[in-house]
Amino acid sequence: MPSAARTTIDAIEVSGKTVLVRVDFNVPISDGEISDDSRIRAAIPTIQSILDRGGSCVLMSHLGRPSGNGFESAFSLAPAAVRLSELLDRPVNLPSDDCLDDASRAAVASIGSGEVILLENLRFHAAEKKGDVDFAARLAIYGDVYCQDAFGAAHRADASMVAVPQAMEGRPRTAGRLLEAELKYLSGAIDSPERPFVAVLGGAKISDKLATIRHLAGRVDTLVVGGAMAFTLLRAMGHDTGRSLVEASMIEEARAIIDAVDATPTTLLLPVDFVCAAAPAAGVETTVSGPDIESGLMGLDIGPASINSFSAAVRAARTVVWNGPMGLFEIPPFDQGTLAITNAMIEATIAGATSVVGGGDTAAAVNDLGLGAGFTHVSTGGGASLRMLEGGPMPGVDTLDLA
Ligand code: 3PG
Repeated sequence: MPSAARTTIDAIEVSGKTVLVRVDFNVPISDGEISDDSRIRAAIPTIQSILDRGGSCVLMSHLGRPSGNGFESAFSLAPAAVRLSELLDRPVNLPSDDCLDDASRAAVASIGSGEVILLENLRFHAAEKKGDVDFAARLAIYGDVYCQDAFGAAHRADASMVAVPQAMEGRPRTAGRLLEAELKYLSGAIDSPERPFVAVLGGAKISDKLATIRHLAGRVDTLVVGGAMAFTLLRAMGHDTGRSLVEASMIEEARAIIDAVDATPTTLLLPVDFVCAAAPAAGVETTVSGPDIESGLMGLDIGPASINSFSAAVRAARTVVWNGPMGLFEIPPFDQGTLAITNAMIEATIAGATSVVGGGDTAAAVNDLGLGAGFTHVSTGGGASLRMLEGGPMPGVDTLDLA
């Protein structure tokens, strides 16, 4: 697992230089409006550090999953350029709809100190996803220095993440401040936690979290599992789960993972009750039952007894990592379990614990509540933070000169 970077962009002389910065501006956009700009905000410290020291920034990012056959307006980074300009309070130039055409090359060639260019979506070229070295070599010309700050994409081996820094060998290739912070908290929590160390996992599918459970078993003191993924584990233990979401094909695997955790010192803490309803909708009649659920009902959130035991475990932690909501938090009243974990983690943080929230749905949930500031760290990476919790490879980090 990659550990915290020891050198970052702050240690590199950037005055008069152009820094090619890989950011992750893959933000939710609908009708041209950005609904969550946290990834753009998270890139500001790195950009500001470069500009304040007389450097210039050429930013590159992907957005969504376009076809790779050229410009598609739905995947344009133009709204991100506008938002970044507002946040930096200076112009941000998006020179063209193609990151490699004459207009983009001319803009980069004439960039001045303190100026910012945002290249259009890298994935308008299929070569980006393919990790193509020729595509990368053409991007590599844009920078005197490579700075990797796209933690959210660091589990991807796309050209801008791997082949570009490879093509820039001999020039400084370093981490930005966001990447540094993400590595510090995510790998720090797992590799050298203060104990008790508690991990809270949730979300819909156990299949998404199997590798995480395997990696955390034996490393954490308590593994708390909520969300619909708990139903597959409970079914494997012989409980009735009614109409709750169960991954039938994973029941055998779930049995094996329970045995694997049991064979370690880690305590597995599962829900003992659920808030159940006949359908996942607002305003439906709810009832609390569990751990068995009757045939017509589905569990849509953890119940009050589970909230109590989960919250107590979290409050007692000195290190706590969380990935995945406890229930269908988008539809009240099925948000109470997720809210309770949020509050318990904030209480633990106030009491001195290190609290880390994985990205994706969980980060969106705490940010929507306006409570992100109550945690030690809220990750900007969904898949990337999960990869870190799995102890899996992070190609976007491995190419950097971090010694
Ligand atoms: C993310 O949102 O998880 C990252 O930006 C990576 O995006 P991707 O899953 O499309 O590679």
